[in-house]
Amino acid sequence: MQRVTVVGAGYVGLTTGAVLAYLGHRVTVVDVDKAKVEGLKAGRLPFFEPYLEELVGLAQDRLAFTHRYEEAIPGAEVVFLAVGTPAGADGSPDLSQVRAAAEGIGRHLGPGFTVVVNKSTVPVGSGNYVEALVRRAYREAYGEEPLAFAVASNPEFLREGQAVYDSFYPDRIVVGAEDKRALEVLRELYEPILEQSFVPPPFLPRPERMGAVPFITTDTASAELIKYGANAFLAMKISFINELAGLAERVGADIREVARGIGLDSRIGHRFLGAGLGWGGSCFPKDTLALLAMGREYGVPMLLVAATREVNALQRQRVVEKLLGELKTLKGRTIALLGLAFKPHTDDLRESPALELAASLLERGAFVRAHDPMALPRARREVALPLEYGEGPEEVLRDADAVVLATDWPEYRTWPWESLKALMRIPLVVDARNHLDRDRLGAAGYRYLGVGVPARGVLEALPNGCS
Ligand code: UDX
Repeated sequence: MQRVTVVGAGYVGLTTGAVLAYLGHRVTVVDVDKAKVEGLKAGRLPFFEPYLEELVGLAQDRLAFTHRYEEAIPGAEVVFLAVGTPAGADGSPDLSQVRAAAEGIGRHLGPGFTVVVNKSTVPVGSGNYVEALVRRAYREAYGEEPLAFAVASNPEFLREGQAVYDSFYPDRIVVGAEDKRALEVLRELYEPILEQSFVPPPFLPRPERMGAVPFITTDTASAELIKYGANAFLAMKISFINELAGLAERVGADIREVARGIGLDSRIGHRFLGAGLGWGGSCFPKDTLALLAMGREYGVPMLLVAATREVNALQRQRVVEKLLGELKTLKGRTIALLGLAFKPHTDDLRESPALELAASLLERGAFVRAHDPMALPRARREVALPLEYGEGPEEVLRDADAVVLATDWPEYRTWPWESLKALMRIPLVVDARNHLDRDRLGAAGYRYLGVGVPARGVLEALPNGCS
């Protein structure tokens, strides 16, 4: 059992804290947002993440929340930095929260050996930066050098919507540190996960073929670069298949078959070859931008990363072009938009491809009526675009000139498409995630367009005028 503090009660911080507490460690989560901390003390999570609330409940005896560094830092053996690093004006991450947290840690560092672990995604070299900030803050507070602390980098690979699962059953754990003791402390901390020796929570059984988890120890800079490399590579894989999907459409191929044929090569792998509307979310956009900024800073052109981003932006425009191809003009058209979250099973709207698409449609004079099984309340609060909202299938599709599926929520597959058709002004479906059953929709009388797949159905003459 170790005493652990996590600075930052966001997705990464809360998940890490709850998982470590479940494994038997004593965890304090500190966040400067008092309202958030009060909510957490009362059992309210600041966001939705599957199983996290249940896990916090199971681990509550070993999990404390505070907004005071002086309660959280002294005596902690491991302090995780899990604060936000949003993109700054020039694309490089804004490190002001990292700085404030490192200084808060330095001012309250106890006498025992403490490992300060960077879990926030930070540019290469941030290990040094954090170490210097902690040291300076300590010196300023006490007039002497801190006794014993070391900095490590421990990048997080968890996916939103699967954060708890990914934390218990990761593909690998990466730790970068120059100090051998720091590596040992972290190996011990993660031992139950590395050896898969913990009793799984009832709601997340261990996957059948789960073996021991590789523990990768490196220098700090390599660990920091692994995180960026992994995210940029995954984004590149998606952009690659999206680019190929454009060609598949022209030559009459089916990109899903192409992806299967490519992905069965074990050197390539089938995951993240889903063609669609492109990637979004809180990581890929920010991390690829940060890599470009690092490339500029160190004079290394990041050509593939730049192209990965360009292809991604074009992918939204392709949907607009498809609508224009069918509807001729978008002015005055009502477009039903299915899905607002950046991917299913979350209400996170950050850098959502659906919202970028909505903005383009609005710019072209369309009305956009959006639906999302989970994100509507958040969209109503946070989205500045003049969207209309539809709560259910009938409300969103009524009198629509087209429907665009932007987020692949499973429930869209089971909508009664046959009976819904009569509600639409024009039965046009642009399935920007290749998610619906195109044969079924074609048979039901819709004109169906996917991404890199042959179309189905034909439209009769467009009705005159617009709704
Ligand atoms: C990602 C990484 O997967 C995770 O390891 C890292 O720690 C954080 O960033 P996340 O942003 O939660 O996780 O979402 P992910 O499931 O990776 O999806 C990212 C985006 O790619 C979504 O918009 C999704 O719709 C899109 N995507 C994914 C595709 O368009 N096609 C695919 O085949 C896979």
